Amino acid sequence: MAKQRVLSGIQPSGRLHIGNLVGALQNWVKLQNQYECYYFIADWHALTSQYADTSQLKDNVKDVLVNCLAAGLDPEKATIFAQSRVIEHAELHVLLSMITPLSWLERVPTYKEKQTEVNDKDLNTYGFLGYPLLQSADILIYRANYVPVGVDQMPHLEITREIGRRFNNFYGEVFPEPEGLLTEFPKVVGTDGRKMSKTYGNCIYLSDSPKEVEQKIKTMTTDPQRIKRTDKGDPELSPVYHLHKIFSSKEEQEQVAEGCRSAEIGCLDCKKVLIRNLLSVMEPIWERRNHYLGKPDLLDDILSSGSEKARQTSIDTMHEVRKAIGLGHI
Ligand code: TRP
Repeated sequence: MAKQRVLSGIQPSGRLHIGNLVGALQNWVKLQNQYECYYFIADWHALTSQYADTSQLKDNVKDVLVNCLAAGLDPEKATIFAQSRVIEHAELHVLLSMITPLSWLERVPTYKEKQTEVNDKDLNTYGFLGYPLLQSADILIYRANYVPVGVDQMPHLEITREIGRRFNNFYGEVFPEPEGLLTEFPKVVGTDGRKMSKTYGNCIYLSDSPKEVEQKIKTMTTDPQRIKRTDKGDPELSPVYHLHKIFSSKEEQEQVAEGCRSAEIGCLDCKKVLIRNLLSVMEPIWERRNHYLGKPDLLDDILSSGSEKARQTSIDTMHEVRKAIGLGHI
């Protein structure tokens, strides 16, 4: 039996951080052994909000690609590509736009939220409203069965299913219904206790050096009520403990939690354990990053051959789409 298909994308809207690693990349790596996986760099999606200044775009795309490989994605197993190199996504997007009621797009919660949240850019654009529809095209064109994403993306998956159904109703069964695969760690806190995000400047980047990582952890906020070393703390109020839950063993989690509650250990002791564990997760990633960063031609080849493979699959779907609608032939 053919393997089920998985598809997911990541926006090159900044350098990737450890939140992207545990929230997406590590999950992608696990899935590559079991499914036929397509993973792509959503460079058009980055343009839906960062259209005015594209000076960082190339670097960000390269950073995503290098980090995908550094996290353990294997181009022999998974197809890794750039959205903009598979122009069929745009064709499907335009065809889906014909059958998409405006109200469906206007009511997607991320639309209003991001418009309110982002004040330094004009997001009253056609492209920004169509963001979830472009995502639907990304997913449907591979007739994907599963889409690994964080909870924040579930509304986009919902609209994808609705649009797929609407297409099938009008023109016949072309698209299966994709299901979300929720990641275990959808939200990772940053060094200040808020959600890790480049807008807050609280990220630990995969491109940081060991020294930078150490420094960032050492200066992290902890339980704000534990002021003196002798005060007893509540680990649940400390973002450092939150990271322990992701990067430390169960035993060490319990040890630091107990040490914090009883004031047997100080915050720096607790941080040192985290630094050791985080560095041991990041070391093989840094090694692979350096390997790939020194081989730009290899990176080019990986992106080109992945994009070519993805195109073949997309072209097959578009034949069926055009035939179902009755386009292009008399
Ligand atoms: N919107 C997704 C995000 O910001 C990125 C994305 C674009 C995506 N197209 C996709 C994710 C298709 C999954 C499937 O994280």
